[in-house]
Amino acid sequence: MEPYDSAAIAAHFPLLAARPGLIYLDSAATTQRLGTVLARLERFYREENSNVHRGTYALAATATEAYESARRAVAGYVRASRPEEIVFVRGTTEAINLVARCWSSRSVGAGDRILVTAMEHHSNFLPWQRAAAERGAQFCVCGLTAEGELDREDLRRLLAGGRTKLLALAHVSNVLGTVNPIKEIVAEAHGAGALVLVDGARRADSGPIDVADLGCDFYAFSGHKMFAGTGIGVLWGRKELLEEMDPYQLGGGMVETVTEESHACRPLPEKFEAGTPHIAGALGLHCAVEFLENFPWDSYAAHRHAIGSYLEPALREIPDLQLLGNPRERAGVYAVAHGRVHGHDLATALATKNVCVRAGHHCAQPLHRSLAIPASLRASFSIYNSLDQAKKFVETLRWAIRVLA
Ligand SMILES: Cc1ncc(COP(=O)(O)O)c(C=O)c1O
Repeated sequence: MEPYDSAAIAAHFPLLAARPGLIYLDSAATTQRLGTVLARLERFYREENSNVHRGTYALAATATEAYESARRAVAGYVRASRPEEIVFVRGTTEAINLVARCWSSRSVGAGDRILVTAMEHHSNFLPWQRAAAERGAQFCVCGLTAEGELDREDLRRLLAGGRTKLLALAHVSNVLGTVNPIKEIVAEAHGAGALVLVDGARRADSGPIDVADLGCDFYAFSGHKMFAGTGIGVLWGRKELLEEMDPYQLGGGMVETVTEESHACRPLPEKFEAGTPHIAGALGLHCAVEFLENFPWDSYAAHRHAIGSYLEPALREIPDLQLLGNPRERAGVYAVAHGRVHGHDLATALATKNVCVRAGHHCAQPLHRSLAIPASLRASFSIYNSLDQAKKFVETLRWAIRVLA
């Protein structure tokens, strides 16, 4: 196996290449963009610009083919059996809202239960809270263990009785870094009669996903968290489920016939893509997917492990600092809370040394409440970060605490 060269990987990202001193540790908020993605966006607007699924002239046909080819590439990335199971949306948030609206309206009723977990991002929490309230259903939150993993006993208890219609959970927590054993959990949920939606926002930059193997029913992710642009994301859903759902938005592009009294929708996936889609965004996502399909994941796994093996003890050694969670598998996310210094003050001090981290609740207030801390400071690593950067982060954090405590 070739040793992993994070500097060579960083060279694929123009912003990082232009700022060699920058230590970007906020990829859980958004990753940096690949040069190929940026070039693709520009090429589309300069040379190929046209709407899709409308015109018959050559330019329009080329744009439509490129857009559909992006859909096929994304279908390949998640190992979907059919490209029409891929719906292009704005991002994870929109994908989850789409399912919470359009699936729940037909499939959830009074007395049913919708289940989420205490580690969810607000985007995988609030849409379900509202759907449950609107349908007269019960909204339940599965607890976590002291290690920051799903409390499987609690999950079993909540699934028992067969009232749960859907379990919505993250593949990877954006605060604890916990990688949930989705396949096992899906089998358990299906055994209890519940469907499973997986929020893959934090997982999508870590290599191909196999929805068939995971066995889930819906999978949502965002292009901007996997080196593509903002404003493009993906909902994958099982064809039979997507087919029975009502459209999310109405308008051009999603309809076959319209009369003064009614309308008939186009088949999947256009039924869910009303209006002009983010065509360039989809083409950029295609480039990101190609990069990720051909990435040396095995040597990166060893590199990520080396960073974790250094960081976990180094952070735990710092007096008065709590490293959140201790999961069996942590995907490059390290959130810490100091007993006396607020995360925002630490993050501001780190920024003066060119270390970019995020402080706050990271859109996971229920999680922070369950940990009884108001906020945390989060360093999130991705494929372009080095072990040296991890060391610089710890050294700078120690300095900031010394200055501020
Ligand atoms: C786990 C998780 N889910 C959902 C989201 C929402 O993603 P987006 O803002 O791209 O819709 C995020 C973003 O931070 C996330 O980390």
